[in-house]
Formats: sequence, structure tokens, C-alpha cells
Amino acid sequence: MMSWSKTLKTIIRLNEPLKKKTTFKIGGNARFFCEPGSTAELKSLIISAKRDNIPFFVIGGGSNILINDKGVDGLVLKLSSNFFKGIFFKGSCCEAGSGIMLSRLIRVAAENGLSGLEFLAGIPGTLGGALCMNAGAGFNCIGDLVQKVKVMDYDGKIKVLPKKDIRFGYRCSGLEKYIILGGTLKLFPKDKDEIRKNIKKFIEHRRNTQDTVSFSAGCIFKNPPGESAGKLIDMCGLKGKSQGQARISLKHANFILNTKQARSGDVIKLISLIEKKVKQKFNVVLEQEIKIWG
Ligand code: EPU
Repeated sequence: MMSWSKTLKTIIRLNEPLKKKTTFKIGGNARFFCEPGSTAELKSLIISAKRDNIPFFVIGGGSNILINDKGVDGLVLKLSSNFFKGIFFKGSCCEAGSGIMLSRLIRVAAENGLSGLEFLAGIPGTLGGALCMNAGAGFNCIGDLVQKVKVMDYDGKIKVLPKKDIRFGYRCSGLEKYIILGGTLKLFPKDKDEIRKNIKKFIEHRRNTQDTVSFSAGCIFKNPPGESAGKLIDMCGLKGKSQGQARISLKHANFILNTKQARSGDVIKLISLIEKKVKQKFNVVLEQEIKIWG
């Protein structure tokens, strides 16, 4: 690993703490960590990792993952260099890099009088993460705005996938088999003040219904068809239930909070408890929305 790192401009860091790179603030270190400065570097990293049998992972805003306290025995890549953060407008279309934070993308679109992304306001993720899991709120999801997505396959080949070749579904896209480099979104011209008002509305709704102050990974489970996972967990009487320093939110039962220095194992125990209780009471098998690494 270290031999091929010499060919890169960007440093590969060893035993890099990951917890601060997640919204949960939980988890151990990455054996190798790198923020590549270009697609050429990214390609070189994944090809070398594959050759040396080192598993690799891409971290976005870290808002939908739980990292094991034991850490990640592999290479964690973060597309956070400026190279992956461009935003360009062409008419009402916006082409943006996957490393850009959604909050910034929404703001820049609003400054350009372009609407469509407001429902994503308040989600602490990147465009790449949002595309990968087809992030959404209510009936809206980012996949509906997509025209095309630029990806790198695991052989380092860059491809542009038109919308028709992407299988966006509820919190899924089928894009996990690629590294997402960016996307082109179709937005809609609208009055800037109107857009800003809508952004505020979505942020307020989130603040009123979710615990946005404590550390968490957002909703732990996907909603079962026609149901709300939060409501089912709530009806099991699990709000406020804690394990170590992890606690099920009193505000929204599909949120697990890290109240201080929760361990990954504490969260996993709460997840199992929720799964068991919801299965017992409603005969519903909840599907996890968050990804657990390591
Ligand atoms: N509810 C309860 N108790 C709870 C939580 C919710 O009774 O503890 C009830 C609510 O009163 C409401 C219904 O369940 O009648 C639905 O709740 P809510 O409007 O909060 O929506 P949700 O389905 O729980 C979804 C997304 C959220 C997104 C909101 C936007 C999923 C799994 N969750 O939540 O996404 O922010 O809609 O309104 O799809 C995320 O994916 O991480 C996430 C937070």
C-alpha cells in the first residue's frame, strides 16, 4: 500500500479516526484514508487497492452510517477535495460534483433562482450520498430530479449513466456498485424569495418533528410500505429507551441518539431490540436504512 502511495500527490493517512466524519460521532479508525485530488488519483487508488485485496469504501457526509468501534480494515475514500465540489449551471440544469454538501448546493441553486432541491434542506449529506441512497423527504426524492449521473466503475472507467439506466427506488439507486462522481439535475426557475421561504419551511418541519441537535444518523430504518417505522417503534413504547449512552429519541422514535460517547455496540443493541419488538407486536420486519461499517 505504502509503495503505491508514492505515486500520488495526496497523502494516504494511516489509522485515521472516522467518528468525527460521521454525524453519529461513533466509531473507530480507518486503516487507510485518502481524499483524492482528481479522478486520476481516485482511479489509481481503487486499482491499487483491488490489486492488493484491500476493501475500499466511500464516505460522503457520514450522515447515514454507523462505524464499528473496531474501525474499518480497509481504505476509506472521501471525495472532499475541490475537484469533486464543482457546480455549473446550464439553463435550469445543474451539474454538480458528488463531494458537495447538499446545504451548499441548495443555497447556490436558490441564489440562481432555481428550485427543486428545497425538500433536502437540513439533511447533513453530500450530493454523492444523496444520489446513492436516493435521499428524500415525504413524497420527494432526489432521483426525480436526475438527468444523468457520472460514475467511476471499480476498474477506474468513467461512465455517464442516463436516468433511464438508473433504478431509483425508495432509498435506493443501484449505484452502490460504482463510485459516484457527480450528477446533472433538472431544476425549475422560481422566485428566489419563494425558494428561501420553502427552504425555511422544510428546515422548520424537520426541527419540529426530529431531534436535529443531538448526534444521530437520521432515521435508522426505512419505512415499511404504507407505514411509518417511527410510528411503529413509538407504538411499541420504545421512545427514551437507552443502552449505554445511546438512546431512542423522545421526539422521533426512528432516531437513535448518541447522548455522549455511545459505543457502536450500544446502538446495535437498540437496533436489535427495535427489530424484535416491532416484529413481535406488528409482525413487520423493519429494514435498516443506515449502513453499518466494520
Ligand atoms: N410518528 C409517530 N411517532 C414517532 C415518529 C413519527 O407517531 O416517533 C408519526 C408522525 O406523527 C406521522 C408519521 O409517523 O404521523 C410519519 O412521521 P414523519 O412525518 O416524521 O415522517 P417519517 O416517515 O417518520 C420520513 C423520512 C425522514 C424525512 C421525513 C420528512 C424515512 C424513513 N424517513 O420520516 O427521513 O426527514 O419523512 O418528513 O423515510 C431519514 O431518511 O434519515 C429521514 C430522517
